[in-house]
Amino acid sequence: MSPGTLVTPPEPCSDAHPAWLPLEAWRAVGARHTVVYGQGLLVDTVFAEIERACAGHGGAVARGIGEPAGHPAQLMFALVKSLPPGDDLGRMAYAELAAPGESLGSEGFVVARPGEVTVVLADAPAGLLYGLFEVVRLGEAAFGPAYPVRVHRPALGRRMLDHWDNVDVHPVMGQVERGYAGGSIFWRDGRPRRDRARLRAYARLLAACGVNAVSVNNVNVHATEARLLTERLDEVAEIADELRAYAIRVHLSVTFAAPVILAGLPTADPLDDRVRAWWAETTRRVYDRIPDFGGYLVKADSEGQPGPFSYGRDHADGANLLAEALAPHGGVVHWRAFVYNHRQDWRDRSTDRARAAFDHFAPLDGRFLDTVIVQVKHGPIDFQAREPVSPVIAAMPGTRLAVEFQVTQEYTGQQRHVCYLAPWWSEVLQFRPWGDDGRSVAEVAADLVAVSNVGDDRFWTGHPLAQANLYAFGRLAWDPGLSPETVLDEWIDLTFDPASSAGPALLRSTLHEIMDDSWRSYERYTAPLGVGFMVRPGHHYGPDVDGYEYTPWGTYHFADRDGVGVDRTRATGTGFTGQYPSPWAEVYESLDNCPDELLLFFHHVPYGHVLHSGSTVIQHIYDTHFAGVREVEAMARRWQRLAGLVGDDVYARVDELLGEQLRCAREWRDQVNAYFHRKSGVPDAHGRPLH
Ligand code: GCU
Repeated sequence: MSPGTLVTPPEPCSDAHPAWLPLEAWRAVGARHTVVYGQGLLVDTVFAEIERACAGHGGAVARGIGEPAGHPAQLMFALVKSLPPGDDLGRMAYAELAAPGESLGSEGFVVARPGEVTVVLADAPAGLLYGLFEVVRLGEAAFGPAYPVRVHRPALGRRMLDHWDNVDVHPVMGQVERGYAGGSIFWRDGRPRRDRARLRAYARLLAACGVNAVSVNNVNVHATEARLLTERLDEVAEIADELRAYAIRVHLSVTFAAPVILAGLPTADPLDDRVRAWWAETTRRVYDRIPDFGGYLVKADSEGQPGPFSYGRDHADGANLLAEALAPHGGVVHWRAFVYNHRQDWRDRSTDRARAAFDHFAPLDGRFLDTVIVQVKHGPIDFQAREPVSPVIAAMPGTRLAVEFQVTQEYTGQQRHVCYLAPWWSEVLQFRPWGDDGRSVAEVAADLVAVSNVGDDRFWTGHPLAQANLYAFGRLAWDPGLSPETVLDEWIDLTFDPASSAGPALLRSTLHEIMDDSWRSYERYTAPLGVGFMVRPGHHYGPDVDGYEYTPWGTYHFADRDGVGVDRTRATGTGFTGQYPSPWAEVYESLDNCPDELLLFFHHVPYGHVLHSGSTVIQHIYDTHFAGVREVEAMARRWQRLAGLVGDDVYARVDELLGEQLRCAREWRDQVNAYFHRKSGVPDAHGRPLH
């Protein structure tokens, strides 16, 4: 094999912030002598990455050429099938696998240290790439005498980011729907950006945290974006060409009405032969152009998007239509379960938006083809700071499911507030819908998907600390058992290079103090006890307690002079609790057993209702809102310690944003407290001003 001949090595130079892959993060790898065995695009990427690291840190790398590495190689990467027969180290590392001959799978790898060499073995090239990033994460620890053999395999097969990027600037939603990090990295003002360096830099950041699929356009597919499937397919192919070198497959959001909009067919009825033929032929063309295309993402019959209901068909008919077209090529369709009536009459107390996904999808279980993945938002409503886990996740044993998170902080501070979301996601992934003896959400899900938080902002994510959310999403999708604190440590050490910091311990402890509990702080100063929303309609930033109360969107808190909350019980409410299996159906139904943090999601209670914490609901509202603001004040004070310990640009951006977070948190505190004081007439037990 000749070294690196087939493929041009990736050159991800970009003027964007290096995030968790600065050159310093490569010191341990780049200072060593490395040999790489194997062939193919991803092995070339591994080689090129190490070569670049060596140029910065003084090491050297060679391509193995079918003979044992001339030592002193200190680091070795090899596809098992490419190991030269006489290479003892590779064989020894292989022999250390738990079971001889054990398969590592298409993405797995083993890191072992037989003797003085650190060896990464994989069955498939993607495994070597992920193994490389594991060694980067480990740093010097990968070369210590005590490094134990470890086999790594991802828990979830597809770890995917959904971009809500528009091609044209949408008059209301802008270039990126719910984007808080500038423009799109893919499109600007109706045209492709073609910033190859940015795309490469993005791809390697994603691969380094384990993401392997990206959907490139908004789930709300407007007229221009619909054409990405056909006449503008080249733009998608160009993106795929950049991401491929980092094992990332590209997916596309499509409109269910595509046969009508793009081909002028009189119908998009999923059972119509012309429609089926059109999707089959269109999909064949997509694969001719992008052979490793991932598949389609569809938002149908939801918030105005077209879908099978227009033709009297159901969502299984709709999803199977696309699945049939994709299946011969190895693609999948992600079909979103986010289907509800967004034109509800607020006077109608019997309709409950929380019920909608289950009511639409659970009866269809067993009817979806294998290549359909029903994509379920993790909560029954819409990415609030607190919701129960969606009951759909436990209701479809015969269907492949993707669980959808939102990395972009639509309802959690819009990347102006520090809100480290890994603790929230970790709770969801560990949740056991059937009780302690049953499987967890992470074990039920086939895929983990998240709405991306990336834009053309210099820091990628607007708020520099929001980078940690993107990193954590990938890492938790790879290994949902990782603790949020461990993931944060990884992110801190990669991003801020402890070796060249004047105060690595202070940096680390301060970032933990600011970030570990920041999601709970956000929850404290916003909507209380799981009731949700209370945001300004439209843009969803900042408080507006009654903003959605008399609207058609189905998100109400029902506060009156006596109490607050939504009665979703079977006994007296909407019956939503009955969508859960035991024991949660009973736990949530019971006022005594329902967890405090979800009380108002499931029950309407008087203000004097006493929580498990011992506080009344009204006093809890006052106390948490005062506490939440104090916590943000503490964050801002703590950040001051980091002047000089992080880059000046990072320091200044975060400092400025903490000022905004504090302003906004005070506004939340005062509006929520004043509102409930005026409704209830109950004074604060501690006599603080309620306005
Ligand atoms: C939320 C969000 C919309 C988005 C929708 C979705 O409602 O506000 O902008 O389109 O979720 O997930 O489809």
